[in-house]
Amino acid sequence: MKTRIKNATVVLPTGSIRTSVIIDGTKIVEIDDAPQVTVDETVDATGLHLIPGVIDDQVHFREPGLTHKEDFEHATRACAKGGITSFLEMPNTNPNTITVERLHEKLDLAATKCLVNYGFYIGATPDNIEQLKAARRTPGIKIFIGSSTGNLLVDQQDALERIFSETTLPITAHCEDESTVRRNQERFSASTDVADHSRIRDHQAALIATSRAIDLAKRHDHRFHVLHCSTGAETELFYDHQQLITAEACPHHLFFNTDDYTRLGSLIQMNPSIKNKEDNEQLWTALLDGRIQVIATDHAPHTLVEKQKPFPQSPSGLPAVENSLALMLNEVNSGRCTLEQVVGWMCDAPARVWDLVDKGRIEIGYDADLVLVDLNYRQEIRNVDQETKCQWSPWDGVTLSGWPRRTWVMGHEVFRNGQLDLSKRGAEVKFDHARGGYWATA
Ligand code: DOR
Repeated sequence: MKTRIKNATVVLPTGSIRTSVIIDGTKIVEIDDAPQVTVDETVDATGLHLIPGVIDDQVHFREPGLTHKEDFEHATRACAKGGITSFLEMPNTNPNTITVERLHEKLDLAATKCLVNYGFYIGATPDNIEQLKAARRTPGIKIFIGSSTGNLLVDQQDALERIFSETTLPITAHCEDESTVRRNQERFSASTDVADHSRIRDHQAALIATSRAIDLAKRHDHRFHVLHCSTGAETELFYDHQQLITAEACPHHLFFNTDDYTRLGSLIQMNPSIKNKEDNEQLWTALLDGRIQVIATDHAPHTLVEKQKPFPQSPSGLPAVENSLALMLNEVNSGRCTLEQVVGWMCDAPARVWDLVDKGRIEIGYDADLVLVDLNYRQEIRNVDQETKCQWSPWDGVTLSGWPRRTWVMGHEVFRNGQLDLSKRGAEVKFDHARGGYWATA
């Protein structure tokens, strides 16, 4: 099957130009009007922008084991609608993805269910280093240096030293200092106010753990990606990246702050906790000046019933894959950033951080993972429209300008103007870690 996407403004690594892109099977084969090429289908994209499919490098899709909250089918329908064509998923499922065998089981399960491309981290425990050394089909190792949803935790210094010194896969971590959080938890043990979540998982907890992980990475000369940075103070650490450190921000930390607890309560209870208005601004500054390279969602659904339990029984996490690109396109429309920057943060940078093969760019020979975006399309986010299994969004009632309208995964059009095509599955994401990550490919 050959498709010509005609007359779009195409966001290329070198800048945006008005041209056509031709897909043949799973690949991009021309970036040119190429009138001599005959195709099976022509898509008139006049007035629209064509961007690479979004790569979300931090999601929790809950399968296996927690499928009352989310599953591959619902989560990847939400991805296709939201313009996410590849996801990298975290190991805190049930069972945890902490052995090569479990990793391969998850890959096999995903192959039968996912509408978009998939990859899975292997989780660290204090004593699974042989598994971490043996794993191959993975973006890297996830460490919970502080605990979050589930029981994964490695905060003993000797275990962390071994992981950073003896393994070779890229490492990433959930950075909130466990002892700081526990101490604060005792202080607020009688609290039923969800706003105290940000006092328990406070600025210091994030800064201590991120500093600790960066110190380990530098001493052991090991690539390290800081997930979901939530404080301005952490962004100060990223100036001295030594071509080892990359960092990421999530929409909830960019758009929500502690003032929003009054309106949204535990719907915005997240780990790391949301912080202050100043942190919102400082995260944006770090994105715009390149200290933070990646935007990912940390899509972490829980049912509304679970979320509506009184604090502190309410779980941490919120869904976002369906709306993350639109949230950023809305910022393009408001003039805060450019579409090219959004493509950098959500497509190119995650592909480079995790060494994805043939993804993250519109380039001849790259996979035909593409999103056609209408910057003028306005749509309200409504809980009832959400594809994610938990069927709610903290952005319910918010109208955004700029939405993905059509999505191709490996050349197959999986989403077209509100309709999903469920007939095909995505592919396993391939990693070539010899590339050396973001800084080596700058
Ligand atoms: O709030 C969170 N929830 N943060 C995480 O890092 C994990 C996630 C979950 O899995 O629920």
